[in-house]
Formats: sequence, C-alpha cells, structure tokens
Amino acid sequence: MRVLFATSEVAPLIKTGGLADVSAALPAALHGMGVDVRVLLPGYPQVLKVLPHLQVAAKIPTQFSFPATRLLTGLLPNGVPLLVIECAELYERGGGAYQDEQGLDWPDNALRFGLLSKIAALLSCTDSPLDWKPEIVHCNDWQTGLTPAYLHFSEGAVPCVMTVHNLAFQGVFPPQMVAELGLPIECFQPDGVEFYNNLSFMKAGLYYADHITTVSPSYANEIQTDALGFGLQGLLANRREVLTGILNGIDTTEWNPATDPNLANPYNLTDISGKSANKRELQKRMGLHIDPDLPLFGLVSRFTPQKGVDLVLEIAPQLIALPAQLVLLGSGDVEMQRTALELAHHYSGQISAYVGFDEALSHLIEAGADIFLMPSRFEPCGLNQMYSQRYGTPPVVHATGGLIDTVLDCNATSLEQGVASGFVFHHMDTPSLLATARRAAITYHDKKIWRALQHNCMVKNFGWGQSATAYHDIYTHLMRR
Ligand code: ADP
Ligand code: GLC
Repeated sequence: MRVLFATSEVAPLIKTGGLADVSAALPAALHGMGVDVRVLLPGYPQVLKVLPHLQVAAKIPTQFSFPATRLLTGLLPNGVPLLVIECAELYERGGGAYQDEQGLDWPDNALRFGLLSKIAALLSCTDSPLDWKPEIVHCNDWQTGLTPAYLHFSEGAVPCVMTVHNLAFQGVFPPQMVAELGLPIECFQPDGVEFYNNLSFMKAGLYYADHITTVSPSYANEIQTDALGFGLQGLLANRREVLTGILNGIDTTEWNPATDPNLANPYNLTDISGKSANKRELQKRMGLHIDPDLPLFGLVSRFTPQKGVDLVLEIAPQLIALPAQLVLLGSGDVEMQRTALELAHHYSGQISAYVGFDEALSHLIEAGADIFLMPSRFEPCGLNQMYSQRYGTPPVVHATGGLIDTVLDCNATSLEQGVASGFVFHHMDTPSLLATARRAAITYHDKKIWRALQHNCMVKNFGWGQSATAYHDIYTHLMRR
C-alpha cells in the first residue's frame, strides 16, 4: 500500500503544535506496519538546514501563480521517507511556518499552501513527475485542504483522506485566489470551495475528500454542532457517513519517562520515586522554592483562548493559596504572555513562567509537575494530557473533545475500578476550574490514592497501534471502492 502523507509541519523539524507530532508518529506507525508511506513537506529553512543531503528527484515547472520548484527526497529522523518541496521564493525565509517574526500571517499563505496542496495532488495523477505513485493521499488540516479539490478535477486521481486536526483554522482567502491557484471557476460555489464569498481551503478538503477523519470520536460529534462547527457543521453533518473520529496516539519512544534524555532522573512505573528528582530540578531551574510536598501544577500550551490559559492566569493567585506552586510554558497571545510574566514576577518562588517554545522544558514539566492543567474550551484531541498521564502526572481537564476520550475523572467508583486518571470539570468557568484544581491538590496529599491514580495513568496504552490500524482500514476500504 502506497500512501502520500501531506502536511505543513513534522516534528522535530518544524513544529507549532500537535500536528507536527502526529505527522511524525502516524507515518512511522504505518511504516512499521509495512505501508510504503512518504511524507510531503514544504522546504522551510528549518528542514533544509537539518537535512542537507536531500536528493533532487524531479523538477516541476511554473504553473498558474506557482513558481518553479524542485522535489527533494530524503528520510525523516525516524526513518520515514520524506519528499520536500524546494521553493526558495515561497518557503525559504525567517519566521515560522505560518507567520513572520512578529506573529503576522504570511501574506502569501494561499500560494504557499496552495502549492503544497497542488503538488500532493500532482504526485498521484497521470502527469506526476515521479515513478512512485501513491494509491492514497492523506491530507491534514487546511494547509493541504485544496488537494482533494485538485484531485477531483484531475486525470487518474486516487482516493484521498482529509484529517481535521483543528477546525478553528480554515485558510480563508479572497475569491480571486481561485483562478490564481488554478482551480476551475465552477468549484467556486456553496457546493464546492466557496465559504461566505471567499475561498476556504478547509471547506474544499471537507467537500471533496473521499473520507474525512478527525482526531477523536467526541470531536467528530462536536464539529457537527453549531457550538463547534465553525460554520461547517452543516457540511460535516451531511457527510457524517464518511466522517470518522480516530483518537491520536503518542510517540511512546519520544515520550518515555524511563529513557527521556530531558529529565534530571528517569523513572518508571515500578520505581516512581525517581519522579521527585525531576520536581526538584524543575523547581530549581524555574526559580521556584524547593519544596517536595507542595503540589506543583504545570501547563504547557499555545497561549490562545482555545486552551483556556486565560482561566489559569485568572485563578493563579487562588491556586497558589491552596497552597500550591504553578509553572507555565507557552507562547502566543501577547496579553497572556505579559500576564504570565507579571504573575511570575509578583509571586516569585510560587509561580514561574517561560514564554517561548522549549521542547526540553516541556518534557521536564510533564515529569516534574505533580498535576497537569489543560482546561481547553475545545480540544480536537490534545496530546499533552496523554503525555502527562504517561509521566504519572494526572491532568485537570475540561470535559471536551479528545480530553473526555482520554481522561477518566477520579471518584470513588473510578478509583475502585482502577480507571481513574485525572480530574474533569464540566463548566468552562473559573469557579469550576478552581474547585477541580483544589480537588486534585487535596487528593495529592492522600499518598495512597495518589499512587493508585499515577499507576492507572502510567499503565494506559496511548501508543499508535490501534489508531494506525483504523487509518489502514479506511485506506483499504477506499482502495477497494
Ligand atoms: P495543539 O496542537 O492544539 O497546540 P496538542 O496538545 O495536540 O495541542 O499539542 C501541542 C504540542 O506542542 C505538544 O507536543 C506540546 O508539548 C507542544 N507545545 C506547545 N507549546 C509548547 C511550548 N511553548 N514549548 C514546547 N512545546 C510546546
Ligand atoms: C490540533 C489540535 C489538537 C490535536 C492536534 C493533533 O492542533 O488543537 O487538539 O491534538 O491538532 O491532532
């Protein structure tokens, strides 16, 4: 089975969030199952620098508004074959994958990700410049959303799967981009790529894909509702027969407390006492008072309203009065960043914040914190709550999306059944978050219950096995049609 996995980010080369983790781990799991999967990625400088020995596989001439490009081949650090689109004009610049250094979206994003979508489609068509031809194209989020539309209007196209990682980001651009990106004008209508008089990459993907998946069963239901459908709930409800929620897995090699090189002290289920050395290291590194007994809350997140970081900042003074400590890692919203740093300054020794992206520190927080905070307003899947459980750090989560599907609230029944794995709150407000954080802090002091909870968390299997098989089944089904 030959699968082209098109994506705009892959860990560890270029990462803004969970999409990068999934784009590394899912292809690796499929590869391990014998699938001939290749990842297609734009040639950002971050990619070309780390992988300097890529081979030129094809040249693709100028088309529509797209510049000429070269297709390079190589391997991802995890051994999965990689195809890189080399296009200096569109991809080789400072800043990040989607935004410049100031955090503003690149003005030519339609072209940048139109090109990624176009090449993903081209490689599966009769005029592909490569000998290798996929039997399935797997697209991810709006950045590859035009691929199913291009395929629909191409010769010899193969079936495609569109995975929604986050419906809040849709890639909406002015209508003149339809012609500039080489799409036939007849697709610019409500039964097509048009969305309130604009071109929507996400809608194109959802409308033309042969199968739609999203990253948890609960989110698959939520996106068909007015509350979380972001205007696409009607289309998604219409297509529910071909919409499947498949829970993300995690990379259990990368996220393994027994072998994680970012930890001060590795530990495992049978010797969880080793976790405390990581708490001490985290407290030391982040300038918190060294105290083994106070519950330490941790948060690692993009700073956006989606993640409910604003609620955490609001309750922070009450949280540390429990008493407890708080460590924050994240970046994004400028106002939230400022508040986090002010809190850390004002409550120094009790609250600490690092604004920026720091992979190593994120691992140490998962290991060194006692309780992980993830009060997302909505969460398609979420990876951090799975990492934290694997690291014996029970999470406090809002009952939404993938969080409901991966965390079981700690109560008498779930404890007795040996399945309690965190603390779940149902009302998205500060009193509920604070009450649940308090419940977690109180439970933390009952060492026997806490050990049982940590044990339940750490024995859970969050690996990709089952989910990769579910994707494989969908590919097989589409190929048979
Ligand atoms: P999302 O993709 O919506 O941001 P996920 O929980 O799926 O949420 O994935 C987030 C990923 O990004 C995790 O691997 C998390 O550790 C990482 N991450 C987020 N912010 C930071 C940061 N500031 N520093 C390091 N890693 C971060
Ligand atoms: C998105 C979602 C997150 C999910 C990730 C990977 O960024 O916000 O919930 O875990 O994609 O699928």
